[in-house]
Amino acid sequence: MLVASNLQKEYPSGTGTLAVLKHVSFSIPQGSLVAIVGPSGSGKTTLLGLLAGLDVPSSGTVSLDGVMLNKLTEDERARLRGEKVGFIFQTFQLIPTLTAVENVQVPLELRGDDGASERATSLLERVGLADRMDHFPSQLSGGEQQRVAIARAFANSPKILFADEPTGNLDGVTGARIVELLESLNRSSGSTVVLVTHDMGLAERADRLIRLRDGEVVEDRSKGSDAPPLPVLPAGVIAR
Ligand SMILES: Nc1ncnc2c1ncn2[C@@H]1O[C@H](COP(=O)(O)OP(=O)(O)OP(=O)(O)O)[C@@H](O)[C@H]1O
Ligand SMILES: [Mg+2]
Repeated sequence: MLVASNLQKEYPSGTGTLAVLKHVSFSIPQGSLVAIVGPSGSGKTTLLGLLAGLDVPSSGTVSLDGVMLNKLTEDERARLRGEKVGFIFQTFQLIPTLTAVENVQVPLELRGDDGASERATSLLERVGLADRMDHFPSQLSGGEQQRVAIARAFANSPKILFADEPTGNLDGVTGARIVELLESLNRSSGSTVVLVTHDMGLAERADRLIRLRDGEVVEDRSKGSDAPPLPVLPAGVIAR
């Protein structure tokens, strides 16, 4: 379970503060596929960073698998991420001095995985980069870099995967393949997948859609909850 409670994030701005996230709360059960949508600047990337423990909120808490992230040191958060979390950054964040296959190997080597090289190779094949293994990021197109970042995020079979615009730079066919990979991680490994997307087609494939506007949750809808709202009960009747 991933629980955000009353998350707020502010940045200093001129004389005052800029509130980028305001009172964001929700619970995401293990194994969910959740899409976060909203206009540019609404706080989606900021929210993912807080949920993954990459950044700390101004107030409020995140609990990941029962662990309160605010109670951990930066090193402890990094260790927890290494064990449980995968993150596909909007800006990829590949290591420029390492080749594609070496980038994917990094999280595996950090855990001392013996088969790091084979696993990295097979993940790159799955994202369609069999013939780009030894390219450096600067020698890859944007969509290819994105796919390396996706392979790297999958390397640890993370219990929870955060994906910031994972298909943002991909053509329709490649994008569909990546969506299938995300869905298979979700279904076959029971991993939670939280993705940010502007692609409503992708968002509609999620079990749940959370919409942000100006740093606030303005919609939180689970699939199958399109039914009309429950009738309002007469005063005095307690809903169960
Ligand atoms: N380090 C920072 N300092 C000051 N303001 C910031 C910082 N990081 C983000 N912001 C502001 O916070 C707001 C939300 O940014 P965020 O990156 O979360 O938006 P987003 O919803 O991911 O947008 P996009 O769809 O364009 O990626 C933006 O207005 C941005 O300018
Ligand atoms: Mg963003």
